[in-house]
Amino acid sequence: MRDNYVVWRQSLLKEWGGLPPPEVKNKEWLYLLKNETRNSIMIEGIFVKEEELEAIISGNNCEIRSATDVLSYFRTAKFLYGLGYENFLSNELIFTRGLIMQVNKGIEEDRAREPGKLRKGKVVIGGAKIEPPEFDLDNWIDVYARWVNENFNNLPILKFTALQHSLFEAVHPFEDGNGRTGRILTNYLLVNSGFPIITVKGDNTSRDIYYSALQESDLHLAPLFKTSANYSQLNNALKKTKTEKLEKVFFKSLKESTDRIIISLMELKGKKMLSTENLASSLNYSKSTIRKLVERGKLISVIRGKTHYSHPSLFYTQKK
Ligand SMILES: Nc1ncnc2c1ncn2[C@@H]1O[C@H](COP(=O)(O)OP(=O)(O)OP(=O)(O)O)[C@@H](O)[C@H]1O
Ligand SMILES: [Mg+2]
Repeated sequence: MRDNYVVWRQSLLKEWGGLPPPEVKNKEWLYLLKNETRNSIMIEGIFVKEEELEAIISGNNCEIRSATDVLSYFRTAKFLYGLGYENFLSNELIFTRGLIMQVNKGIEEDRAREPGKLRKGKVVIGGAKIEPPEFDLDNWIDVYARWVNENFNNLPILKFTALQHSLFEAVHPFEDGNGRTGRILTNYLLVNSGFPIITVKGDNTSRDIYYSALQESDLHLAPLFKTSANYSQLNNALKKTKTEKLEKVFFKSLKESTDRIIISLMELKGKKMLSTENLASSLNYSKSTIRKLVERGKLISVIRGKTHYSHPSLFYTQKK
């Protein structure tokens, strides 16, 4: 069902004018970019408050510890999503080794010993059982990029996104910054398919769910790394790889960001949203029914302050 809910959202996005360009002057995009930056670096253990992030990106306070991490992430992400958006418009995809390296360099400039260079030697992923390949990283990054190019826009978006992300994280090509680099690449590909970005939440509970979701897909990927990189073996393994948990994590966030954009596009064209409480009473639905519909993705809504807003035309119906 999740795939149907995503396709439904995709058609609504189109109907209301399509994904707006990822620019900071668009307030929904600014929110998404800030939210992603704060949470993505939180997974790495860097905590910045909303006000601090605001000050850092507007150039008002670079004294804050971690200002460089925030700025490098924010700028790299924004540039990449702009590129993904342009290529979405012209129906192209640029996904090469050079692009992947540049993302790692962009976020790691001041940190890693060799930002943007493939690691030489073993790496251990904290808390994970999988052992990423020790040698042959040149070839592993190439088979990963080839798989992305061959499967882009050819699989349901959640399946593609989850497989792509699991594979990148399992290969773990860099000395450091693999999580942040992988999350930016994932969002770049989403924008390149006409979707807004997702945020993996950085609090401990959400991070643990994200890590255990990656572990679920590791099972089929781990044996690959016992031998050298081979595209057809990789392709076969990915056909069997389980991604149920990661798709669930990604769907939760993708629906939130897509709904935010759809509703803002509708409002720009003069549609008035109702609080979901009013919507429930006008339709004779209980509040808990409405809540469940929102949770499942069958009702598009947005939260502002503490109130959820939606519209009678935003209920999922089978026909759509
Ligand atoms: N079981 C797992 N299998 C594959 N990848 C995993 C697993 N558990 C965690 N990871 C990935 O490894 C990342 C951490 O790797 P690394 O330290 O290189 O990245 P980082 O960007 O510096 O840190 P972080 O991702 O924590 O911000 C996690 O964010 C996650 O994406
Ligand atoms: Mg790290």
